[in-house]
Amino acid sequence: MKIFIDSADLDEIKEVLSYGILDGVTTNPSLIKKAVEKYREKNLEDYIKKILRICKGKPVSLEVVGTNFDEMTKEGENLYRKFNKVAGNVYIKIPVNPCVEKKCSNSSDGIKVIKTLSKKGVPINCTLIFTPEQALLAAKAGAKIVSPFAGREDDYIREMNRIKFKKEDYFPKKGFRKGKKVLNDEGIVSGVDLVSECVKMLKNEKRKTLILAASIRNPEQFREVSEAGADIATLPFSVIKKLFEHKKTMEGMKDFKRDSAKVYVKIARSK
Ligand code: E4P
Repeated sequence: MKIFIDSADLDEIKEVLSYGILDGVTTNPSLIKKAVEKYREKNLEDYIKKILRICKGKPVSLEVVGTNFDEMTKEGENLYRKFNKVAGNVYIKIPVNPCVEKKCSNSSDGIKVIKTLSKKGVPINCTLIFTPEQALLAAKAGAKIVSPFAGREDDYIREMNRIKFKKEDYFPKKGFRKGKKVLNDEGIVSGVDLVSECVKMLKNEKRKTLILAASIRNPEQFREVSEAGADIATLPFSVIKKLFEHKKTMEGMKDFKRDSAKVYVKIARSK
């Protein structure tokens, strides 16, 4: 499974790039806002170009902000034209459904935009996927990547059932039992289940669209989306850092450090 960082923070991206295990980057409007505030960035265009340059050879997703067909199509075209020439690694993120309220007549605009831009050769990452059906529609429209949001699905199931939780809390992949009932969102019992059902649905369609597990909150969820068959997982910096950790690794290091014979250290450190 490929590992992306879910961040628009240049320092975070640089650091994870230095580990030599990073395959790509996803951003969204909230992550861009966070970076702008942190760096008090005046020239956002240059800042985004810096990210693209250091990530040459690795896909970087940039999201549109519009909520209808014309806005999203134009923004997608503009972002791709402005930025893909920098390092040839831009994916445009399009929401599967841009409606911001229930009464909305253009719920299909996301899919239409995906079809339109894909035909023009713009690689699309379809975002905000919360059902396998949405993933299928996006794949049929030509999206190269579909992004089911595992963590936010877990949040939703807990919120609907008034369960208190912290963002990083583990949510069981087989669902949360309340009495005899397994809590669910129209049959989906967890974020990992959402990813797993997307994998099954697209496999049956024999499509080449990649499944990117997004909104990952902890290392267990990362492991489980991999087992579920996700092609990519995008992780916040904090979760990437946690992947290195285990109490016994640290204890083992303490033992080995204590036991290192001077003569052995000398051999290891001399040419
Ligand atoms: C995906 O590409 C999104 O940027 C992201 O994973 C959202 O994660 P969040 O739910 O932690 O905000």
